[in-house]
Formats: sequence, C-alpha cells, structure tokens
Amino acid sequence: MNQIDLSHRHAVVTGGAQGLGLSIATRLVASGASVSLWDRDADALKLAFGQLQAPSVLSTETVDVSQPDSVMTATENTIQRYGKIDILVASAGIAGPNFKSWDYPFDAWKQVIDINLTGVFLCCRAIVPHMLRQNYGRIVNISSIAGKEGNPTASGYSAAKAGVIAFTKSLGKETALNNIAVNCITPAAAKTRIFDQVTQEHVDFMLSKIPRGRFLKVDEVSSMVAWLVSEENSFTTAAVFDLSGGRATY
Ligand SMILES: NC(=O)c1ccc[n+]([C@@H]2O[C@H](COP(=O)([O-])OP(=O)(O)OC[C@H]3O[C@@H](n4cnc5c(N)ncnc54)[C@H](O)[C@@H]3O)[C@@H](O)[C@H]2O)c1
Repeated sequence: MNQIDLSHRHAVVTGGAQGLGLSIATRLVASGASVSLWDRDADALKLAFGQLQAPSVLSTETVDVSQPDSVMTATENTIQRYGKIDILVASAGIAGPNFKSWDYPFDAWKQVIDINLTGVFLCCRAIVPHMLRQNYGRIVNISSIAGKEGNPTASGYSAAKAGVIAFTKSLGKETALNNIAVNCITPAAAKTRIFDQVTQEHVDFMLSKIPRGRFLKVDEVSSMVAWLVSEENSFTTAAVFDLSGGRATY
C-alpha cells in the first residue's frame, strides 16, 4: 500500500456506512485524515463507526443527500465540529430497479436521479464554498462505467452517472484557479450491498463485460481515490479516472 499523507485533512465521505464509501473512509483514516461518514442508514453508520475503530478521528451524520436541507445541516454540523472540510468523496448512491426504458417506473427514475446525480450536486454545492474560502479542496465523485457506456435495463442509473461525469467537468473548471481538484471515477462492478438491488442477470451482464474477468475489489477503488484526494494531485482536475478493468474504450 502506498503511503499517502492526509494528516491534518478532514474528509466527508457520503455513502460512507458501507461498500465503496466505507472502504475509502478506512483508507483515508489509515492515511492520517479525520473523516465524517455521511449516510442515510443510521444502523449501518453505527456498525461502520465500530468497525473502523478510530473514534477520535471519526464522526457520523445521518443525512439524505437528495434533500437540500439535510445536506446543509450535515455541512454545518461538520464545519462546527472540525472547522473545515478539505476532502469530499461523494459515494452515496443506489442502483434502482432493472427495467427496459419504456417500462421504467417514473418514481424509480426520479429517485435514482435525485440521489445519484442531484445528491452529488447538493453535496458539492454545500461544501465547495468552504473549500473556496481556504483556497484548497479535493473532490472525488463516484460515477460508473454505466455513465460512459449506458447499461441496458439501467437507463436511469446510466443517465445519472453520465450526469455526474459532466457535472464534475463543469465544477472542475469553475474551481481550477482555487487549488481545488474535482475529479470522478468510473468503476465497473464491485461486489457490495448494491448488488442486492439488481437482478442476477444484470450482475452476470456486468461481469461478462470486464476484460479482466473478475469483479473490481473495493480496495482497488480506495487506492485510486487516496491519491486523487491528496495534496500531490495538484494539477489534474475536471477529469474522469477509469476503473473498469479494460471495459472502457475512452
Ligand atoms: N459496487 C459497484 O459495482 C459500483 C460500480 C460503479 C459505481 N458504483 C457507485 O459507487 C457508489 C457506492 O456504491 P456501493 O457499491 O458502495 O453501494 P452500497 O449500497 O454498498 O453503499 C451505498 C451507500 O449509500 C447510502 N445511500 C444511498 N442513498 C443515500 C442517500 N439518499 N443519502 C445518503 N446515503 C445514501 C446507502 O445507505 C449505502 O450505505 C454508488 O454511487 C454506486 O452507484 C458502485
């Protein structure tokens, strides 16, 4: 494991109670950062807090990233407690159900867009002003290979993740003169609880598309994110980092 120095940095990890978010939070704590885990699942947050075994550098916020007021309150609580936010990793997300586009229920479509795309916007909108004030920030938004390629029966998810890529590029340009780096990653399938939300057929489809012939490991995600949120990442911004095991062609 590369030693990445994040001492004296405070990070917010949304969706931090499990899956990719928890793996990323674990790596950030190991690198010296203090971390606020933001998640809507209070029980999972409690478990994650215990699992990380780092109470002195860890806090939790029960927050729904799709709700502006909830995000604002969590931001205020985090700033009050730590005085600053240097790093944001926006990992909260859902898969939504699998339907062909013409059968896709409107409520499910709206929920997927509200959480996966609007949620990223709301967290960045709340936290970036604090980064601008200190002329420093590192943001990683978790998109997906689905946002580049468009997965069948996952049109809402694919559209939201494509939106995260475009949003990241816009925000990265807007903050480029303020020592803020905004990037996103596009992972292929990694075995987490999100698999419970999709059909086995869809899981098989995602695996069949990965030239490496296996699922992505959560540690491989946190490894890439750890560098992206470090001070060493001083030039790259508004960019998309591939984690698709060879699937992406651009
Ligand atoms: N696992 C994969 O195969 C994969 C691949 C590509 C991209 N991603 C993306 O990575 C991110 C993390 O996924 P994961 O695999 O860790 O899933 P996960 O289900 O294990 O974790 C997602 C977390 O987000 C939280 N969450 C969901 N909606 C929320 C909301 N409205 N407000 C706050 N928290 C909320 C959940 O409670 C959960 O703890 C998601 O954005 C997902 O789309 C995952």
